[in-house]
Amino acid sequence: MQLIEDLQWRYATKRYINKPISEEEVSVILEIIRLTATSLGLQPFEIYDIRSTEVRAKLRDAAYNQPQLTEASHVFVFAVWTEVTEEMVDSYLNFIATTREKDVSTLAGFRKSIMGFVSSKNTEEIIKWSSNQAYIALGKAMVAAAQMRIDSTPMEGFNRDVVDDILDLRSKNLHASVILTVGYRDAENDPLATVQKVRKPIHQIHRII
Ligand SMILES: Cc1cc2nc3c(=O)[nH]c(=O)nc-3n(C[C@H](O)[C@H](O)[C@H](O)COP(=O)(O)O)c2cc1C
Repeated sequence: MQLIEDLQWRYATKRYINKPISEEEVSVILEIIRLTATSLGLQPFEIYDIRSTEVRAKLRDAAYNQPQLTEASHVFVFAVWTEVTEEMVDSYLNFIATTREKDVSTLAGFRKSIMGFVSSKNTEEIIKWSSNQAYIALGKAMVAAAQMRIDSTPMEGFNRDVVDDILDLRSKNLHASVILTVGYRDAENDPLATVQKVRKPIHQIHRII
């Protein structure tokens, strides 16, 4: 099956060559992230597309000097919500009402459920919840990249608080959650480009009850 072949082909790339992916491919990856399913449909994250060489160098420092941050074609930082205010919920509900040409009052029950859910959570729990949504999008973007034969690296090996400072996320009530780098593997200099994939056999992780 083609999809399985794509996933066998991909690996967490450590070294990239200096070759950009096209803007059209960037748009596809972003569209996949935009179309991801999220809890309550709230899409509680933003994507920071880091093109500045200077900022990338700072991110590399914050990520234990991992070369992907400066070598990859594109670096996407998933910045997740740290809070969900009543205004944010109302803005979302108005957006639904406008998009579906409904009166917002028809969403009163939904509003109550959302407010009940978010108001029961502290900041740490909101960050955990919003990060969960970002990771679903991250996974989809990695699959899509592999289908386009674009290499990628999911990265959480970085200091989130330092990245918050670098990108000034705290002032926007955002928090750095996970990073996705994409580009083309440097097969000559990346020792992981040629090693066998290591995965448990399915019987060790699949339980039928
Ligand atoms: C959430 C997450 C965070 C990761 N963080 C890093 C990272 O910071 N740097 C890195 O080189 N690889 C990172 N990886 C890659 C994993 O080490 C890699 O996916 C795993 O060893 C399996 O190898 P494969 O993806 O090449 O098949 C991360 C993977 C995931 C899913």
